[in-house]
Parts: sequence; C-alpha cells; structure tokens
Amino acid sequence: MRGILLAGGTGSRLWPITRGVSKQLVPIFDKPMVYYPLCTLVMAGIREILVITAPEDREQFVRLLGDGSQFGLRLEYAVQEHPGGVAQSFLIGERFIDGGPVALVLGDNIFYGPGLGRQLAMRHRPTGARIFAYPVADPHEYGVVEFDETGRVLSIEEKPARPRSRYVVPGLYFYDSRVVDIAQELKPSDRGELEITAVNEAYRRAGELSVTVLARGTAWLDTGNVESMMQAAEFVRVMEARQGLKIGCLEETVWRAGLIDDDGLRRLAEPLLRSGYGQYLLRLLDGLPGPV
Ligand code: DAU
Repeated sequence: MRGILLAGGTGSRLWPITRGVSKQLVPIFDKPMVYYPLCTLVMAGIREILVITAPEDREQFVRLLGDGSQFGLRLEYAVQEHPGGVAQSFLIGERFIDGGPVALVLGDNIFYGPGLGRQLAMRHRPTGARIFAYPVADPHEYGVVEFDETGRVLSIEEKPARPRSRYVVPGLYFYDSRVVDIAQELKPSDRGELEITAVNEAYRRAGELSVTVLARGTAWLDTGNVESMMQAAEFVRVMEARQGLKIGCLEETVWRAGLIDDDGLRRLAEPLLRSGYGQYLLRLLDGLPGPV
C-alpha cells in the first residue's frame, strides 16, 4: 500500500510564524512536525510515500527528506497549487496511487499511544474505507462521526454546529482503489474545499465505511494554532524526558521497522551529533534505551 502525506495549506492560523516557512516544517519540540506523521505511515507498514506541499515549500521538504532512501523509504513529491481541500490529495496523487489502495495522513497530525503500531499495521489493504474515531471535549472543530454499538457508522459531518457525538475523525485514512473516482465526483463545499468528510460520506452511503476507535490512552495531538502546537511540544518534551525515548523519531522508527540496518542508523546519526539527537540514535545501537 502507498501513502500520501498532505503538507500544503497556508498555515494561516499560525501567522506570522508560517509566513516564511511551511507549517509542517516548524518544530514540535526537537524535530520537524512532518517527522511525526511520517512515522505514523511507517508504523502502518507503508514504504512509498507521496509528499504534497505548497509550491514554494517543496524545496525545503526535499532538503530535509530527499528521496527517502537514507530512511529505507521511497519518497516522491507533488505540489498543491492552491489549498483546495484535503480530498484534492487523491487528484494530485492519482498517478502515484496507480489504481491501488492508499493511506492518507495529514502533515500536522501527531499520534502516539500503546499498541498504535500494531493497530495500524492491521489496517492494511482495506475493502472500502477505514477511519478512526477519537473522543474530544470540543468536537465541532472537526469531522464528527456517529456510530452504533456494532461499529456501524450512522453519520459523518464536517464541523457541525450541533455535533451528534463526541467522536471526531483524526487525519489518518485508509482507502481502497475507488477513492480517486470518488474524489473526482466531489463538488467544493461551502468553504470552497473538496472535503475528506465528503469522501467518507460516499463510502458510508455505499455501506463501506468502517471506523476503529483509538484505544483510550492514545494521544492524538492537534497543532492547529499556537496554543495547541505548544501543548503538543510540551507533551513530547515531558514524555521524552521521563522515558528517555523519543516520540516521532523517524530515524529510530525506520531502524526498528528493519528498513535500515545499524550502519544506516550510524550514518544518519553522525551529522546530528552536536544537537544531542544523533547521540540518542547512537545510544540505540548500544541497546539503550531499551525497546518499547
Ligand atoms: O485534523 C483532523 C481534521 O482535519 C478532520 O477531523 C476534519 O474532518 C478534516 O476536514 C480536517 O479539518 P481541518 O479543517 O482542521 O483541516 P485543515 O484545513 O486545518 O487542514 C488539515 C491539514 O491539511 C493542514 O496541515 C493543512 C493541510 N491542507 C489542508 C487543506 C485544506 C493542505 O495541505 N491542503 C489543503 O487544501
């Protein structure tokens, strides 16, 4: 299965920070934001990834990530000329998807939790669509999903004024090969976007939308505004200091996934020794800190 990482948009809720740099490249504590969703795709078993950026940001992503071979990945790049909505990813990525199933992750979504890797790895090759649900205190800012006790989705709505449930849909989606056709049929919403929620609604109407509730204790962190971005950074800082293990460390994730060997990890660590990040990678090779 291939994956798309959507890292475009204007980042206007973070201006002036993101007037000069892509939102998905700003740091969340000790690494660029994009590392976290990349790790999520890798944990889901995905190795071939299309990174979609705004035109002016493309070069910076290439500078950071290259063709992905140093991480044991295959990365391609595409640009989104204007932020026309999350579902535009499937039109931009049509050639890359090449008629297969595809996973989409939003470049500003951070996931962390016990068993998440295993849970994601099981979501491979869906029939229909697979989304996740996560309870939040204030659902009306998100896509809201309502389901019965058997897991059947009753409704899915984008930013409803009166949410029908406390469960919202995080920015990680798995689709079968029909998703491109569905995206081609979409009309822009009132906010002028091709909505991912409209894609999910099309699958729901066909009786092919499955939802998995993320386990209690999973962190799904938002980086939508300065407050939530700082909260996410603080979460990562506290967890990393306490456990001595990094969250969203792409180099570690690909090494643990067996995509690079010890020499590969050493090569990634060497240029990073001065920040301490590289020393963490070298300590992994010494068996410390231990596996999780
Ligand atoms: O974060 C999860 C939520 O993401 C879902 O619950 C909603 O159903 C979904 O519509 C989306 O909601 P937002 O309105 O919060 O999405 P936002 O416009 O903030 O865009 C999410 C990310 O995708 C952000 O990093 C920017 C990027 N993006 C967005 C659009 C609209 C693009 O790269 N291109 C775009 O055209």
